[in-house]
Amino acid sequence: MPLSAPPESVEIQLGDRSYPILIGSGLLGDPGSYAALPSAATALIVTNTTVAPLYAETLRAALANRFRAVHLLELPDGEAYKDWQTLNLIFDALLSHGCDRKTVLFALGGGVVGDMTGFAAASYMRGVPFVQVPTTLLAQVDSSVGGKTAINHPLGKNMIGAFYQPRLVLCDLSTLTTLPPRELSAGLAEIIKYGPIHDMAFMDWIEANIDAMVARDPSALAHAVKRSCEIKAEVVGQDERETGLRAILNFGHTFGHAIESGLGYGEWLHGEAVGCGMVMAAHLSQRLGGVDEAFVQRLTALIQKAGLPVVGPALGAERYLELMRIDKKSEAGEIRFVVIDKPGSAIMRGAPDAMVREVLAQCCEKN
Ligand SMILES: NC(=O)c1ccc[n+]([C@@H]2O[C@H](COP(=O)([O-])OP(=O)(O)OC[C@H]3O[C@@H](n4cnc5c(N)ncnc54)[C@H](O)[C@@H]3O)[C@@H](O)[C@H]2O)c1
Ligand SMILES: [Zn+2]
Repeated sequence: MPLSAPPESVEIQLGDRSYPILIGSGLLGDPGSYAALPSAATALIVTNTTVAPLYAETLRAALANRFRAVHLLELPDGEAYKDWQTLNLIFDALLSHGCDRKTVLFALGGGVVGDMTGFAAASYMRGVPFVQVPTTLLAQVDSSVGGKTAINHPLGKNMIGAFYQPRLVLCDLSTLTTLPPRELSAGLAEIIKYGPIHDMAFMDWIEANIDAMVARDPSALAHAVKRSCEIKAEVVGQDERETGLRAILNFGHTFGHAIESGLGYGEWLHGEAVGCGMVMAAHLSQRLGGVDEAFVQRLTALIQKAGLPVVGPALGAERYLELMRIDKKSEAGEIRFVVIDKPGSAIMRGAPDAMVREVLAQCCEKN
């Protein structure tokens, strides 16, 4: 997409908390991107030590005429810092700069920065406006949209948080040029997920364009981000607080979370674990009668082409089952899986342990 192209816009419909997702190249540095924000004296950009040298100055310059003061806070980089201590650095900055309840927070970075800044915005002075400026593919197609915010606890991931919607999401596709290849593939996993659960025409499109996306073709990425945000917007608009439908966005995540925590967080990226988890969930869906073998092979090939692992680590079936039983989605010890009940449609359901063991035997490395 050329620099001059007007941004695409997707609206999240939540009554008086509705907001736009703007998608385009070069949006970050364009003061016009921020025109509709509420007026305020101060802004705080929260970012990290990796993203700050790349994009913080561009954002600060674009905000300079709108706010009397634009403060910058650089957090340490990594999932390990998505914790209370680091969250508190945001409150320290807000209070030491005398930020009031109109102060606008800008989350500039991937999902870690977005989740933490959103939670800080939800609780500082009982809620201040915030803007998501996602700079990873995963954050642009998933974590920045929908208002889930959280930090981790030593005993569990994303266990402390709030539903709190941003005022604006700004997906600047030009930030993806600096993303490491593994992070790009991790984002592709969350894009692929939207096909089998909701939109087979999108799955066809992803198959036809997977090589272009891996090569970072701007127009292919632009379409993928837009369609992913549209699907997430539709699902979140119907079920903001995940009382039902929203859970289908966790396709591949029950198996994926077990891989992440079984190997130790950080070994596989979240998107890598979800990619492999979708292969497992597809096999389970086949055993439950929702899809045929050709569908499973098709999805597996697509995940592989995205540069993602398709064979699970050999944690042992009992360890997988144990880890999946403590997943947030399980109820009274029964594991709930998102499975495809027909191509383009997903449901939540349980499955016999014996069947899950068979899937794991089929999909994991042998000891
Ligand atoms: N809130 C939600 O709905 C939701 C959904 C999915 C995931 N998440 C959360 O999101 C987090 C994962 O997000 P992520 O995958 O974006 O990881 P991340 O935020 O850790 O970013 C990945 C890495 O890329 C770097 N980076 C970011 N933008 C860059 C750029 N443009 N160029 C170069 N490097 C860049 C980061 O500094 C980091 O090292 C997890 O904590 C997960 O729990 C939240
Ligand atoms: Zn995910």
